[in-house]
Amino acid sequence: MSGWYKIAKIEEIPRMGSRIVQINEIEIAIFKTNDNLIYAINNICPHKQGKLSEGLVHGDIVTCPLHNADISLKTGEAISENYGCTKKYEIKIDNEMIYLQF
Ligand code: FES
Repeated sequence: MSGWYKIAKIEEIPRMGSRIVQINEIEIAIFKTNDNLIYAINNICPHKQGKLSEGLVHGDIVTCPLHNADISLKTGEAISENYGCTKKYEIKIDNEMIYLQF
């Protein structure tokens, strides 16, 4: 059954960084950009399973720490290489609290 999961306050996610949450054994990385925008994508790179939460955030992109593919935080898509896509999750903010749809 799908629903909205309470994740964290916006301020608890480091700017240009991330925090991992685990729902039903799936690791999801919650990212905050330099502009304080929040995105949620599967933590696993679609190339060879690098941990995207350990990557470098720039703009609305995270660069995978393993082989430097740029992954769009907006779509989960690898935009620098033809590596496919990691799952993107919908989020909503209510009263500074982040909720994720799963
Ligand atoms: S595992 Fe991410 S680019 Fe290779």
